[in-house]
Amino acid sequence: MPVDLIRTINRVGKWSVNRMIGRRRPLIAVFSLTHYCNFYCPMCPFGDADKEGQMRLARKNDLTTEQWKLIFDKVSKYCVWSIIEGGEPTSRPDFMELVRHLYGLKLPITLITNCSLLHKIDLDELKKYIQFITCSIDSVFEESYCKVRGVTPQAYQKVMENLELLNQHKVPHYFNSVITKFNTDEFVNQKYFERARELGVNSVSLTFVEDRSDVNYSLLPDRKTMIKVCESVLEHIKKGKYPQVMIPPLYFEQIIEHGRGVFDECGVWKSIFVNGNGTVMVPCWKYTSPENSYSLLEKSVEEIWSAPQWEITKTCHDCEVLGCVWYSSQPVTTFAQNYMRGLSKMINQQKPELVNAVTN
Ligand SMILES: C[S@@+](CC[C@H](N)C(=O)[O-])C[C@H]1O[C@@H](n2cnc3c(N)ncnc32)[C@H](O)[C@@H]1O
Ligand code: SF4
Ligand code: SF4
Repeated sequence: MPVDLIRTINRVGKWSVNRMIGRRRPLIAVFSLTHYCNFYCPMCPFGDADKEGQMRLARKNDLTTEQWKLIFDKVSKYCVWSIIEGGEPTSRPDFMELVRHLYGLKLPITLITNCSLLHKIDLDELKKYIQFITCSIDSVFEESYCKVRGVTPQAYQKVMENLELLNQHKVPHYFNSVITKFNTDEFVNQKYFERARELGVNSVSLTFVEDRSDVNYSLLPDRKTMIKVCESVLEHIKKGKYPQVMIPPLYFEQIIEHGRGVFDECGVWKSIFVNGNGTVMVPCWKYTSPENSYSLLEKSVEEIWSAPQWEITKTCHDCEVLGCVWYSSQPVTTFAQNYMRGLSKMINQQKPELVNAVTN
């Protein structure tokens, strides 16, 4: 889908005016379509082992098709880009219908998926609606993949087959890899990059795992290993070889120097993150008390973005390495230019208009 330039410029213009008068408003929409996921990643709350319970929860609390459409309509008035994720978004039976609706609203779409169910989807239809797919492929080698994702070698094989389907159907995609203590070797010895290229991607996004606060284990590698990973990634970036790394070198340099990403004010408010039940947590998912939860079915974006809890973002630095929070917390020029240039580089053969749409 070509990006609607006029629409994008309009939204960014309104957003900038709000910014100038000190008003926070969202620009990127993130829809967590369902509470259900078929994977068991230990780094993620949706990796819960009780899949029957999770399915029950999803049946009870997930928004209906019509409710999601209502929310898409509300949010589309503000945002220039949408991201669909979950849980596993492709597990929803109405997945394509929802994507089609977003497409009708002229919102560019990124799908984030574990890729395990892509063989059940009409990829030729999907590629008409979305800009690209973010494939969550934390490791490109079976053993570490299975550890980070908590799945069997059969699941890994299915995902690899599905990546091949994406190549065959020419669906634009890149890898997002979360670095945990289980998969550092392939980044240190750089075999990750070689294998990712063989698997057909030109770009990768790399972020260290943000440890969960609701469990008593850590998946973050030790400091020495993190430094080795960062040095190796920086060396790869310097070589200028494929696959290109979509996260700016600054992220890795800061981790080497400070042991974490650095930012003045958290920029999580630049995205509207809608949970599977239609709620928005203000300022973010880490603040779970009921008074921080606002239903987007009942309230407007204006009302929610006027909530006093957004002030927390001025001082909270709890997210130490999470790539998306780091990104959104960089000065707006770094945020917009790097992000969009990174994305557009990846797809520049297929969709050159994107480069100009957002970075100029
Ligand atoms: C929650 S998942 C939902 C979409 C889909 N199930 C998937 O795995 O792609 C969205 C993204 O968050 C990433 N993620 C999950 N837990 C994380 C954590 N603790 N730190 C950093 N990224 C995480 C996943 O790797 C994935 O790329
Ligand atoms: S596949 Fe995605 S949603 Fe599911 S447990 Fe893993 S990271 Fe979480
Ligand atoms: S830094 Fe704080 S406010 Fe920002 S996303 Fe992380 S926990 Fe939320």
